[in-house]
Amino acid sequence: MSKPRVSIVMGSANDWEIMQQAARALQDFGVAYDARVISAHRSPDMLFDYIHEMSTNGVQCFIAGAGGAAHLAGVIAGKTTLPVLGVPIPSKYLKGMDSLLSIVQMPKGIPVATFAIGEAGAANAGLFAVATLALNDTQLAQKLADYRKQQAAQIAATRLPDL
Ligand code: RP5
Repeated sequence: MSKPRVSIVMGSANDWEIMQQAARALQDFGVAYDARVISAHRSPDMLFDYIHEMSTNGVQCFIAGAGGAAHLAGVIAGKTTLPVLGVPIPSKYLKGMDSLLSIVQMPKGIPVATFAIGEAGAANAGLFAVATLALNDTQLAQKLADYRKQQAAQIAATRLPDL
């Protein structure tokens, strides 16, 4: 197993249903990742130890998914200078608007790149991590360009049904 280049953290095992989309995107591009459930408020000490372990072992960015008062991504960003990509998890009562606002409204100075609520956000966070790594990895850059070409070809081949 190669060393993880990306860390995926989520606040609850229930977030995995969404966050697996980030993992799939990385897997599709052959990017090794580590995925963990660690809560910023239920297991803060464990989170700090984990951030230290990952950031001193070659991980180049964190993808953090959390729901509700979602402070996980912000706390990670406060403990590392590596890029942090936040994914708002849909919540029961506010449908993820709480998660989105908690992640996107980081005070000036400690940025978190925030993605869409739910599956699209998780998948795009994975793709964004790939794009970041591709800056220094020509093979990965080529794969990403091919993936974009495939999407364009799919659109070009799309025909609407007759009325
Ligand atoms: C957050 O609280 C998690 O990210 C999760 O989305 C939310 C609810 O947690 P569970 O009650 O599903 O474990 O920490």
